[in-house]
Amino acid sequence: MSEIVFDSVSHSFGDRKVLRDIDLRLHERRVGIIGANGSGKSTLARMINGLLKPMSGTVTVDGVDAARKGAQVRRKVGFVFTDPDTQIVMPTVSEDLAFSLRRSGLSKQEIAARVEEMLVRFGLEQHGEHPAHLLSGGQKQLLAIGAVLIRGPEVIVADEPTTLLDLRNARVVADALDSVDQQVIVVTHQLALLEGFDRVIVIDDGAVTFDGTPAEAVPAYRASVG
Ligand SMILES: Nc1ncnc2c1ncn2[C@@H]1O[C@H](COP(=O)(O)OP(=O)(O)O)[C@@H](O)[C@H]1O
Ligand SMILES: [Mg+2]
Repeated sequence: MSEIVFDSVSHSFGDRKVLRDIDLRLHERRVGIIGANGSGKSTLARMINGLLKPMSGTVTVDGVDAARKGAQVRRKVGFVFTDPDTQIVMPTVSEDLAFSLRRSGLSKQEIAARVEEMLVRFGLEQHGEHPAHLLSGGQKQLLAIGAVLIRGPEVIVADEPTTLLDLRNARVVADALDSVDQQVIVVTHQLALLEGFDRVIVIDDGAVTFDGTPAEAVPAYRASVG
């Protein structure tokens, strides 16, 4: 597993303090992050692969500073957004997966083989030549996860990957994330998704208010929202 370290991380947007002196060391295979809307979860998650730079403090992944060496960190850490439409860039499903490997140095044949493998893995093999925007919401999110996984990251950070989905599609996407061998850090409101997780962190108003097992975190979160 990689070691993700937040060292005295604070961040503000204008006058609003969004993260308050966060110290965290994440090295478990499954880590959940929960908390009310606006508590700072996305801000924190985006810092892990340098999408957002902290105003003070540092975030490192295996010792590499995500703010200073973003490209290097992003080779190791893939990011799955809430809305898969923001992540899908190519017209067809297969092209979108292949696009992830455009700078991999792999041959056309190797790329095609990996794309096929990913299509099969996520049950999209009938949809390779279909326009990506015609997939269901759940299938789009599977495609987005596939487009991250195909690059062979060591860590996946997913920011509310099931929030826009109906229950059935949320289940499908949760199962897909569950099947991933890599380290996964998930921000979610879907508490069922945290079952079997190694660690759950509760964020409230930019600070960590609980850090422990899912069994303890969920009651702590419920109590904090009253
Ligand atoms: N780019 C931004 N500019 C200004 N304010 C922002 C920006 N991103 C987030 N915020 C504000 O920062 C706070 C925390 O946001 P966020 O990290 O997205 O919380 P969460 O993901 O827990 O809902 C919210 O009040 C939000 O409105
Ligand atoms: Mg958010």
